[in-house]
Amino acid sequence: KRVAILISGSGSNMVSLVESMTGDHPARACLVLSNNHDAGGLRKAADRGVDTAVVDHRPYGEDRAAFEDILHARLTEARPDILCLAGFMRVLTEGFVSRWQGRMLNIHPSLLPKYRGLNTHARALQAGDTKAGCTVHEVTPALDDGPILGQAEVAIEAGETAETLAARVLELEHILYPAVLRRFAAGDRRMITLP
Ligand code: GRF
Repeated sequence: KRVAILISGSGSNMVSLVESMTGDHPARACLVLSNNHDAGGLRKAADRGVDTAVVDHRPYGEDRAAFEDILHARLTEARPDILCLAGFMRVLTEGFVSRWQGRMLNIHPSLLPKYRGLNTHARALQAGDTKAGCTVHEVTPALDDGPILGQAEVAIEAGETAETLAARVLELEHILYPAVLRRFAAGDRRMITLP
């Protein structure tokens, strides 16, 4: 299986995914694409021998469909079987999602269905939650809403800040996403929960 990974920033999840696809793993990374020219992950991908591409969303302004048409065309050139959104910070419209649904995953830093959207850790702390975590799900047109394929959770500790929590959850993301991708690439959609 060929996997294209979409990033916007540091790409730490992308690195974990790329480094997991070795040996008898049924998939290999075929492209890392960013909407952001200066995404730190682009260099990390190139250093690991993965083709990279940039499709900057800014020239398209509010015309999401125009951006997504270019995005789709560039992705299609790499012939991916699976798309992994990994810290990709652009909302994708139904027009794009419908062309990839069933073949597109995302990782979100909360225990969905709680805290769709942004600032998930601050919201969990604000609510006085005792646990937090991350979720890998299939992407559907509704934001952060598709079938859940994996979840990993941590206990929220006393004195926790959004920053300390984000760092701990990010470490879990780096374990969960590769575990889900390996199964998904083998055609297994059974949900994983960690620990
Ligand atoms: C992180 O906040 C992570 O929780 C979310 O995307 C952001 C950037 O991740 N999935 P990455 O380091 O670019 O993978």
